[in-house]
Amino acid sequence: MNDEERRRAAEAAVKDCYSTWAQSYHTDYYSGQAAYPPVHQGLLHSWLADSGARSVLDAGCGPASMLRHLADLQADLYGFDLTPEMVNEARRVMKPLGTPPERIWEGSVTDPAAFRRPNRGSFDAAICIGVLPHVPSECDETVIHNLRDSVRRGGLIALEARNQLFALFTLNRYSYDFFTNELAQTEQLKRAENAGLEAVLSGLQDRFRMDLPPVRSGKSGEPGYDEVLSRTHNPLLLKQQFEDAGLSQVEVLFYHFHCLPPMFEEKLPEFFRTQSLAMENPRDWRGYFMASAFIVVGKRT
Ligand SMILES: C[S@@+](CC[C@H](N)C(=O)[O-])C[C@H]1O[C@@H](n2cnc3c(N)ncnc32)[C@H](O)[C@@H]1O
Repeated sequence: MNDEERRRAAEAAVKDCYSTWAQSYHTDYYSGQAAYPPVHQGLLHSWLADSGARSVLDAGCGPASMLRHLADLQADLYGFDLTPEMVNEARRVMKPLGTPPERIWEGSVTDPAAFRRPNRGSFDAAICIGVLPHVPSECDETVIHNLRDSVRRGGLIALEARNQLFALFTLNRYSYDFFTNELAQTEQLKRAENAGLEAVLSGLQDRFRMDLPPVRSGKSGEPGYDEVLSRTHNPLLLKQQFEDAGLSQVEVLFYHFHCLPPMFEEKLPEFFRTQSLAMENPRDWRGYFMASAFIVVGKRT
């Protein structure tokens, strides 16, 4: 498959995955029933409020999970999403909050045309939350450039990602993958041919809980979150990509801290939640390892 075919295939699978999720996504992740409070919502809300942005684009807005919580800002809100069911739900939710349906449209973050404000000008701020994991790696730079180009000079962008370095704290399948693919790069080691290497790698697996975390599958036959492309990102490298794209005041803001490796949560659920929430501080260096997600923010110069 070439890059274009890979992108199309990834987008088709992701659309399928999210097609059944439009009604329940907000309840699953943003309501009182969510496994963990959506701390990034408050983080983005105050970041946008402090910026004084008067127009905000949410690229990959889902069911307006973030937009609906920005409705009290003095800003015109816009959004687009790849999945038609998400677009419909976002329009339904946002209409009574004062955002007309034409301000929410279908589009992909890999397509510069999707970022255009329907009538004029560019946005004061653009956010992209929960989308980058689903984009093939060769498109990361395009997404950053598209976000940057959608805002005016001096405008702000925020791009959220799953934290790859969290694997150093989880002691599970993700840790093994990080050790073997990113740190030791065992495919390269294998080229040096050593009879004992396979046994060492299998021994390495014994150090981690390879059965965890459980794979999240779909609701009714469609592929689930872990069955479609759902990458993690290295915050050090994504920050560098922002700087390479000419953005200034680039910062990494961490959220969804874990006070202990997540496999222990079931042993002390209330304690785990309370202590993890107490740790939430987007600028705490421990976020590099103990937070499962982060947002890179930057300013267009
Ligand atoms: C995890 S949900 C996040 C939704 C919302 N941004 C939020 O924070 O709650 C991921 C969303 O990204 C959308 N998506 C995935 N790939 C996309 C792409 N290439 N372009 C635009 N949206 C995409 C999916 O349809 C889905 O609605």
